[in-house]
Amino acid sequence: VVWSEQERSIINSIFSSLDYNDAGPKALSRCLIVYPWTQRYFASFGNLYNAEAIKSNPNVQAHGIKVLHGLDRAVKNMDNIKATYAELSVLHSEKLHVDPDNFKLLADCLTIVIAAKMGSAFTPEVQAAFQKFLAVVVSALGKQYH
Ligand code: HEM
Repeated sequence: VVWSEQERSIINSIFSSLDYNDAGPKALSRCLIVYPWTQRYFASFGNLYNAEAIKSNPNVQAHGIKVLHGLDRAVKNMDNIKATYAELSVLHSEKLHVDPDNFKLLADCLTIVIAAKMGSAFTPEVQAAFQKFLAVVVSALGKQYH
């Protein structure tokens, strides 16, 4: 993957101004609410009975933050995202048995959360760079499955 200087600076600026503790829980809970079949992987998280329960579930909140910090690693290694996620890809496929289609769903939920936070600053150029970044992450996480 080739990144332009503009793409690099967009990705860095999105993550440097991101409130992980807010965006992480919002993105994961949105995914669990909009795509309820994703709940099956989080049986140990306790009450996911409805949207309110999901949003206020402390395990969901903590895991959302953890996932966003997982993305940090890609931001810091933009030229080597595949290798960066080799281990996480094995974990999600072999141990957690997560259907790789779900990576895209969570990525889309994160895009919506970021778009809502940025408002008019989420220009088409910003969206293009962000979605390109997430597409590379999704592909790297799914690599172990092919
Ligand atoms: C665990 C990242 C997508 C299900 C994790 C961990 C990270 C992570 C960093 C912690 C690994 C560890 O403890 O060593 C990501 C990223 C994703 C993603 C960056 C995509 C952008 C998903 C999706 C699902 C999922 C879509 C399911 C629908 C899980 C589960 C765990 C986990 C069940 C273990 C949770 C636990 O019991 O603590 N993920 N993940 N992940 N992930 Fe993901």
